[in-house]
Amino acid sequence: MAKAPRIALVTGATQGLGLALVKGLAQRLDAGDVVYATGRNEARLKEITTELSGSRAHVRGELFDVAEPERAQHLADLLAERHGGVDIVFNNAVMGVAPEDDQRTVVGAFAEVNNFGTTRVLRAFGPRLRDGGRMIVVASALGTLSYLAPVLHDRFDELSTLDEVDAAVGAWRDAVEDGSAFGGPWPAFVNIPSKIGQVAAVRTLAAQRRQDDLARGVLIASVCPGMMNTRLSQAWWDVRDAATPDEAAVPLLDLVFRPVDPGQYGELVRHGQVLPWRPAGAPAEHRAPPRKAG
Ligand SMILES: NC(=O)c1ccc[n+]([C@@H]2O[C@H](COP(=O)([O-])OP(=O)(O)OC[C@H]3O[C@@H](n4cnc5c(N)ncnc54)[C@H](OP(=O)(O)O)[C@@H]3O)[C@@H](O)[C@H]2O)c1
Repeated sequence: MAKAPRIALVTGATQGLGLALVKGLAQRLDAGDVVYATGRNEARLKEITTELSGSRAHVRGELFDVAEPERAQHLADLLAERHGGVDIVFNNAVMGVAPEDDQRTVVGAFAEVNNFGTTRVLRAFGPRLRDGGRMIVVASALGTLSYLAPVLHDRFDELSTLDEVDAAVGAWRDAVEDGSAFGGPWPAFVNIPSKIGQVAAVRTLAAQRRQDDLARGVLIASVCPGMMNTRLSQAWWDVRDAATPDEAAVPLLDLVFRPVDPGQYGELVRHGQVLPWRPAGAPAEHRAPPRKAG
């Protein structure tokens, strides 16, 4: 019996790591498989599909601004209608901040793209993942509780639902917007709570689906690509010697094409290794004391 075509989708695929993931998927998947390069710039998507028209798998462009509340669900439904489901999803899109940005002004849009955009993708595409599927959220090594003051750990630890994750992110965003986050225990760099929120979302969804997913050969995980030379990092550092997006994409693609390691399920993975969610010596039952009410 002929194998069903595999369907992959990458968010934020117009440049940087997202584009490298599209290229890598198009090389590693087979003829007849489809890779959806998605983004918010239609002209750029057209250029990419033209450039990659000679790849093994077929590359298609699809408009997807992850900040649009209804778009993830709409696209998941569209792919289900066209193909019956989806096999590989890379949630990669990111809104960067620059050193000169006023974090209070940008944090609303930042959380909308990077965090609520992520939970919308998880909610929309999670139920559409076929047996053997992969749902990978591109986060960062900054996305662990080690980067957060212990008094804040329980905001993101062991949450039961994605709504709770969104509420935790929303409370942090509000604290940045009204200024109460400054001078308190929150990290000064908005990327840290945001990446912790992404990793927490993956952990939360994975805890709900673990048994069933492992039985079906499905992997849900977050990943750290390591430092790369992209527009995002160029705003902050001299990254001329950092990995290219193509180089950084290799371990992420390996994760997708190798058999599932149950030890990586739901975890944050960098170069094939799990990064601990909690700091050493802080198991769940000994984590930060509960917050006072109110
Ligand atoms: N660069 C690093 O060193 C580094 C390190 C650790 C983790 N990461 C993570 O790796 C991932 C990729 O980062 P990168 O460095 O490749 O970033 P990048 O070069 O800035 O690319 C970001 C991509 O996201 C897209 N995007 C932005 N807002 C969007 C929206 N609302 N809807 C859909 N797409 C949107 C951008 O599209 P436009 O072209 O339209 O702007 C672009 O295609 C991110 O999750 C990032 O946090 C990066």
